[in-house]
Parts: sequence; C-alpha cells; structure tokens
Amino acid sequence: MNSQTLTSLQGDDSRHTLLEKSLAFMARRAMYMLELPRIADALDEASFMQRGLEMAEELTDSKVSFIHFVNEDEKTIELVTWSRRTLESYCHAAFDRHYPVSEAGIWAEALRHRQPVVFNDYATAPGKHGLPEGHAPLQRLISLPVIEQGKIVMLVGVGNKASDYGDQDIETLQLVANDVWHLAQRGRAQRQIAENMQGLRELNQKLEAAHSQLLQSEKMASIGQLAAGVAHELNNPIGFVTSNLGSLESYLQDIFSILDAYAVAEAGMQSSCPELNQARQLKLDRDYDFLRSDIVQLLSESREGLGRVAKIVRDLKDFSRAGEASMQWADLHQGIETTLNVVWNELKYKCTVVKDYGDLPQIWCEPSQLNQVFMNLLVNAGHAIQEKGEITIRTGRQGSEVFVAIGDTGTGIASEHLNRIFEPFFTTKPIGKGTGLGLSLAYGIVQKHHGRIEVQSKLGKGTTFTVWLPIDPVAPAADAVPPAPTFA
Ligand SMILES: Nc1ncnc2c1ncn2[C@@H]1O[C@H](COP(=O)(O)OP(=O)(O)OP(=O)(O)O)[C@@H](O)[C@H]1O
Ligand SMILES: [Mg+2]
Repeated sequence: MNSQTLTSLQGDDSRHTLLEKSLAFMARRAMYMLELPRIADALDEASFMQRGLEMAEELTDSKVSFIHFVNEDEKTIELVTWSRRTLESYCHAAFDRHYPVSEAGIWAEALRHRQPVVFNDYATAPGKHGLPEGHAPLQRLISLPVIEQGKIVMLVGVGNKASDYGDQDIETLQLVANDVWHLAQRGRAQRQIAENMQGLRELNQKLEAAHSQLLQSEKMASIGQLAAGVAHELNNPIGFVTSNLGSLESYLQDIFSILDAYAVAEAGMQSSCPELNQARQLKLDRDYDFLRSDIVQLLSESREGLGRVAKIVRDLKDFSRAGEASMQWADLHQGIETTLNVVWNELKYKCTVVKDYGDLPQIWCEPSQLNQVFMNLLVNAGHAIQEKGEITIRTGRQGSEVFVAIGDTGTGIASEHLNRIFEPFFTTKPIGKGTGLGLSLAYGIVQKHHGRIEVQSKLGKGTTFTVWLPIDPVAPAADAVPPAPTFA
C-alpha cells in the first residue's frame, strides 16, 4: 500500500467520522424537536420557554441564551427570559424588561436587518454598546429573528460557544426558535379557547339559572293560583257546613229536651195503649239511648273534622299568599310550620320530625316563596327515607344571616350526582314521582333572596340542606355573580 493510498484512506476515515458525528447530531436535534410539542403541553409558558432555551444551548454548545418578544410596531422589545443557566451562573444585571430597539445592543441587529447575525469576536464587534454591569461577558453570539407573516415576532440568541458559531448552529437555533414561538402561540390559543369555554360555561349557567327562575315563577304562579282557588272554593262550603252544624246541634238540643218531656209524660201513662207499647218497642229496637249518645259524639267528631279542613284551607291560603308576592318582614318558623302541615301527609308514615329551633328574628323575604323552598326540601327528605327515618329541622342566626337546616337520615346523594342536583330536570326518581325541578326552584328562590344553599351528604347516611338567608338583604350590584351552591 503506497503512502498516497494511505492518505486517501485516512481522509475517508475522517470524512466517515464527520458524517457519523453529523448524523448523530441530526438524530439528537430531531429528538429534541420531537420533545418540544410534548413539553409545551406539560409545562406553563415560562417553563416551556426556559426549556426551549436550554435545548438551544445544548444543541449549539452555548452557555448563555435569551428570548425577546418583539411588539407589533417592531420598534420595542420585551425580554421574556434568559435561560436558567444564564441567570444562575452568568448574568446578574438588572434589566428593564421593556425597551426600544434603538437602545438595544448589537444583538438587536437581527431585528434591524431582519436576518440572523453572528458575532464570533464580540469584543471587537463594531457598534456594540457595551454591556450593563453584571451582564454575562460575551465572547460569541448568534441572534436571530422569528418571522411570522412578514413580521418579526421574536428575537432569540445564544452565546459563548467555546469555538466559532457556524451555519449548523444558526440553522439549529432557527429551528428551535420557530418551534418555541409556534408552540407557545398554540399554548396561548389553547388557553384562550379554554377561557372562552369557561366563559361560555358560565354564561350557560346564568342562562340555566334564568331559565329555572322563569320555571320557578311559572310553577309558583300556577301552584299559588291553584292553592288559592281551592282554598277559596272550599271556604264557602266550609262556612255553611260549620254554620249548619251549629244549628243542627242547637236543634238537637231542643229535640232532646222535647223528647225528655215526652219521656216524663210517658212514664205516667197506662201501658194498655197499644200505640204507646209500639213506640216503647221501637225505642228499644232502635237502641234509643245509644243513638242519643252517639249523635252527640258524631257531632263533636264532625266539628273536629271540619276544624281540620278549615286549618288545611288556612294553610293553603297562607302557603300561596295570593296577591302577597312582595317582600315583607316574616317569621320563618311560622312558614316552616305551615309548610310542615301541608306536606305532613307525605311524611307522617315514615318520618319522625325533630325540631331544633333557635332564636330567629323576622327576616325581609317573600314568605310564600320560602315556603316553597322548605316544601321541596321536606318532600325530598321524605322521599330519601325509604322505610323509617328522621327529619331534623334546625334553625339559628349567625351575624346578619339566619339558617334553616333540613337534615334527613335517608339514602344520601351519590358524589357523581351531587353537583347536578340543582340542574333543572335532574332527577333520580322514577317517571311520575319527580320532575327534577324542586331544587332548581329552591335554588332560584334562595338566590333571589341573596342567600345560598349548602349541601352535605353521605351515601347511606343522609343529607342536610342548609338554607342561609340574610336578615335584611342589601340589593347587590346588578352584575354581581350569584353564589354557587356548595357541596360536600
Ligand atoms: N334529601 C335528599 N336525599 C337524597 N337525594 C336527594 C335529596 N334531595 C334531592 N335529592 C336528589 O336530587 C334530585 C333532584 O331533586 P329535585 O328536588 O330537584 O327533583 P326531584 O325531587 O327529583 O323532583 P321534583 O322535586 O321536581 O318533584 C333528586 O331526584 C334526588 O336524586
Ligand atoms: Mg324534589
């Protein structure tokens, strides 16, 4: 083998090594580039930018790096970040984060020339401003722009490689910078979409609340009308039946005294008169003594029954309070009692009701609407108790608020249902038993009173709904966001 062949083989070897190195670098760079989108999703924007700079430093063997955003006018720039390594080890200068391009150092030439600039001997570079105190000393620097739709949007730089920067470094920095920019923008767009979605969700919630209030007022109006109508219709017959019963009682007293007089007369009469004997026999057959005493008993029971009907009618009137749909000072205990009477039929077979009433001042409210709230909560509590259980009604005052807590020892609410129960039409009850409106109506009413509803529930143990109401609500600002129900 002659020396010429040997040289050419050595040349082949080093070309081969160079090629291998270059391929290894390309593979490493490709891996980094593939990693960027993944970390963009996982990190917040600042950390992602940091990581992008670290990659640029690693791939270009640099020791310092920075990113500036360029404002729309392309005349002012904004420091986004130096790489962590730059900050920790090299650079302690205090930076004004916003400044005009005209005052920026020669690294901003990239912006002025709209293309990458490389300084491999920074110390002798013409036009440099000198570095502020604490700034990393610069030996070498690449600074380049990221251009989007003809506008420079970002400047990225790396510096202080041990050897001169070459085309491969510029290309690598440009690739990383472009991707960092686009991924950061994508992140911002995604966050914007998420914010918009949140806004839409909130809007939707407000619409639902408005809708449920509408349903509430419709339902209230029809229940109120119905109750008031029934009460009115019943009032009349109750009136004349009560009056007739009174007359009947007094007539009977008279009849009894006449009969008593006849009995005295009869005692002195001869028994040979056949009509008299017939009458005596009839008296025995029909059990006159029993009839007489039972008539009194029947009358008294009828009077009591009539009293109960009259009370139900009063409760119905109280409950609907037709024509009184306006705010007034009212006693909540009275409302709870009235409502309990209305729903008692639903509860009496399964539930014991325990009352733990505190000292409640009168509050400024629409009593008939709050009765509707208590009714829905009490009926729900009754439904939740399958065989036998307890309903506890606790009331009290805390500062400027009062609370009414209605607890039951029923089924409890599954955690996946807990944040849906206030949705209109959400029900777990079979068709015909529940429409899913009760709680949304209650929520709307309480909200209208500037109060809130809290729920605590444990599956298999029971549920407590606590209604908090201000004693004297001061109307909040028109755009105030209503408090959401809380769940536990
Ligand atoms: N005290 C409670 N215990 C257990 N679950 C409850 C209780 N209160 C409400 N829920 C659950 O919340 C759901 C919604 O209640 P809501 O009062 O709004 O509607 P509903 O009772 O199903 O029907 P409606 O009240 O319109 O007749 C109920 O179906 C039930 O699953
Ligand atoms: Mg209900």
